[in-house]
Amino acid sequence: MSHATKPMITRASSPLTGTIRVPGDKSISHRSLMFGTLAIGETRIEGLLESEDVLATTSAMKALGANVRQLGPGSWSVEGVGVGGLCEPETALDFGNAGTGVRLTMGLVASHAVTAAFIGDASLSCRPMGRVLDPLREMGAEVLARSGDRLPLTVRGPETALPITYRVPVPSAQVKSAVLLAGLNAPGRTTVIEPIPTRDHTERMLLGFGAELDIEENADGERVLRLTGQPELKPQAITVPSDPSSAAFMIVAALIVPGSEVTVQDVLLNPHRTGLIKTLEEMDADISIENVRETGGKKLGDIRARHSRLTGTTVPAERAPSMIDEYPILAVAAAFAEGETRMLGLHELTVKESNRLAAVSAGLAVNGVPHEKGEDWLSVTGGETVKGGGTVVTHLDHRIAMSFLMLGLASDAPVAVDDGVPIATSFPDFADLVTQLGGRIELAAGEKA
Ligand code: S3P
Repeated sequence: MSHATKPMITRASSPLTGTIRVPGDKSISHRSLMFGTLAIGETRIEGLLESEDVLATTSAMKALGANVRQLGPGSWSVEGVGVGGLCEPETALDFGNAGTGVRLTMGLVASHAVTAAFIGDASLSCRPMGRVLDPLREMGAEVLARSGDRLPLTVRGPETALPITYRVPVPSAQVKSAVLLAGLNAPGRTTVIEPIPTRDHTERMLLGFGAELDIEENADGERVLRLTGQPELKPQAITVPSDPSSAAFMIVAALIVPGSEVTVQDVLLNPHRTGLIKTLEEMDADISIENVRETGGKKLGDIRARHSRLTGTTVPAERAPSMIDEYPILAVAAAFAEGETRMLGLHELTVKESNRLAAVSAGLAVNGVPHEKGEDWLSVTGGETVKGGGTVVTHLDHRIAMSFLMLGLASDAPVAVDDGVPIATSFPDFADLVTQLGGRIELAAGEKA
């Protein structure tokens, strides 16, 4: 590990109470910057997530020719270059830990006649890029990559990209989005067939920016997206809603710490992102969603969670795409749920910022939580109390760090994580918000986090 690590620890806390906002949605933040870059004119963004992952995308978009400026906290301006107008970056694009940033930007570059090199941290450099590079090669991009299609790698786009028809072989919004972004600068029609629906931010935002995109379901129940290439995208004013994947940590913390009641405001309620809420409700969680409203084509609401006696459930494989980033924190909720919680269809979890199936299992093991795992499933047997006392290895994975820090707020003995640094990739004010709610979170050395 090349950076200085920051071990952190949490301890059993008195009730968590309060009303908070968590930062802007990461998926929408990346896309706002990218679509702003491909529009002609000025896109204004409010509530941008200013985390390391998204800041890497701001740098990449600047390197590709956009004028990206911060106007104030969360407030950004992007003057785009238009579809077809990307410049060749002078240096390698460094995406740090960010899978979404790097994969979607590869799509952008792949249909422009420029050459760009992509680099990232140790976690990103282990992750499979072939899932995105395969269709981009079909569109005419040339790629020089490390073995197994890993970073560092270079993409060189053709003079004229070929529009393709691509059936996404794994349920991945990143793959779908990379092909659509490349298709924006291919003449003619690019078709993406999605057998299992995933988060639809790219489609929604493309329509908002004025792209021509038809969406329908075919006879086999698959989503078919037909994009007409080389549109003139129109700049937008975007307000980024709060990230449901960040809200998830605070909601589960409230459910497991006795006496708690926490409200997280303005959370995005896109149905492709709310699988965790549905699952927690099935586990008898006391959750209510208030003030539901629609703004800028997005459904938002305030989520209130109270401490609950949870019960185990079975989470079907079909639900995985709508809560793919939430399994680590669900495993923490499951540790406090009476009986067994079975999570099925977890293969995609093994190729995230870490192998999350293995990392969650190891974290549960060192904290005395009975569980079993298979190649693509996890079963956790919970109860009223959890031993805790372990130190969890986070493998440069922000969600592993935050999930197990939540476990320590309710376990008998404190829970440590070996490194809290990766939390800044998605949720820089995580520790401050936990403290604000009354949670006991510290640097493991004893200093305040
Ligand atoms: C994302 C898609 C998901 C998710 C990631 C963000 C996106 O990845 O895990 O955190 O913004 O498109 P996959 O599409 O690889 O499942």
